[in-house]
Amino acid sequence: MTRVLSGIQPTGDVHLGNYLGALRQWAIDQHDADAFYCAVDLHAVTIQQDPEQLRSATLGTMATLVSVGLDPEVCTLFVQSHVPQHTELSWLLECTVSLGELRRMTQFKDKAARAEGGDQRGDHVSAGLFTYPALMAADILIYDADRVPVGDDQRQHLELTRDVAQRFNSRYGDTFVIPDAAIPTVGARVMDLQNPTAKMSKSSESPQGSVGIFEDPAHVARKFTRAVTDSESEVRYDPEVKPGVSNLLSILGAATGRSAADAAASYSQYGVLKTDTADAVIAMLEPIKAKKAELDADPAELARIIAVGADKAEAVACVTVARAKEAMGFLPKQPQPKVSA
Ligand code: TYM
Repeated sequence: MTRVLSGIQPTGDVHLGNYLGALRQWAIDQHDADAFYCAVDLHAVTIQQDPEQLRSATLGTMATLVSVGLDPEVCTLFVQSHVPQHTELSWLLECTVSLGELRRMTQFKDKAARAEGGDQRGDHVSAGLFTYPALMAADILIYDADRVPVGDDQRQHLELTRDVAQRFNSRYGDTFVIPDAAIPTVGARVMDLQNPTAKMSKSSESPQGSVGIFEDPAHVARKFTRAVTDSESEVRYDPEVKPGVSNLLSILGAATGRSAADAAASYSQYGVLKTDTADAVIAMLEPIKAKKAELDADPAELARIIAVGADKAEAVACVTVARAKEAMGFLPKQPQPKVSA
C-alpha cells in the first residue's frame, strides 16, 4: 500500500491556503493510502516561540487536523516531537546534505532576510532555520513515504529530500524510499487577498489578506469583498497580468471543483465573482467549524488521539532509523550479556 506523510507547523491559525494546498488532499489520501500526518512543532521552534503559545497552538493544530476530516481510526495523526527518532535521523541527514544545498533553499533565504530585517522575535537567524530542510527530509524518509501532499511552496524542499535520499542510498546501500511530491492542480498557491503577488501566509503583515478556516463568516465575506483586484473589469484567468482576479478564480475553482479558467467563464463582473467566492468558501468551511466545536467540547478525546498516534508513528520510525544507522556503520546496541553465577 502507498505510504503518505505530510506535516503542518503549529504556528498561528490554519488558513485557506493550508486547507486548499494541503489538508484537503490529506483527507482524500487517507482513504487509499497508509497515511501519517503531523503537527511539526520541532520546525516551529526554528523561530522563537512563546512556550505557552506553542503548547496551545500544537493542540489547536491537532484539533484542526481532525476537524478537516482526518480520521484517527483511518490514518495516523501525531505530534512530531513525540517521536524522538525524527531528530535522530535529522542529524544523520545533516551530515550528508551540503552547505551549498541548504543555502539554495528559497524559504531559508526569505525567512532569514525577514529575521535579519528585525521583524521576527529573537531578531536573529537560528542555525535550525538553516538546517530545517534536513529535519523535513527526516520527517518524510523515516516513514518510507512514497507520496508527500504539499502546496507549491514546499516543492524545493521535496526536491532536496529526494536528492538526500538518493545520495544516502548510493553511499550506504538501498535504505530510503524516494518520495514524490503531490501538489494539487488547483489551490496549490493561494495568494494574499490584499497582496496577490505574495502567498497567503500565517505571518502575513496584512491580516485582511489571509482567511482563517475558523473565521466568522461575516469576516470572511468582508475580506473577499475588499480583495485587491485591478482597474480593468474583465474577468479572466491570467495570473501574470491579473493576479488578484486570478487568485479569486483559483479559490472559487478549488472550492467548487472546477479549474480557475472554467470558473472564469461564468463571470463578467468583479463584484459577483467576489461574493460567489466568499459564499463558496463559507459553505466549504461550515462542516469543518462544526466538527471543531464538537472536538473542543471533548479535550480528553483529543488527548487520546494524540497519544495513540505517537505510539503508531514511533513503531514505524524506530525501524527506519535502525536501518539507516546500521547502513552508516553505527555499532548496534546489544543487550547486556547475562553474567552466569
Ligand atoms: P506550513 O506549515 O507552512 O504549511 C502547511 C501546508 O500548507 C501549504 N501551504 C499552502 N498551500 C497553498 N497556498 C498557500 N498560500 C499555502 N501556504 C501553505 C504548504 O505547502 C504545506 O503543505 N515545511 C512545511 C512543514 C513540514 C512538512 C514536513 C511538510 C515539515 N516537515 C514533511 C511535508 C512533509 C511547512 O512549513 O508547511
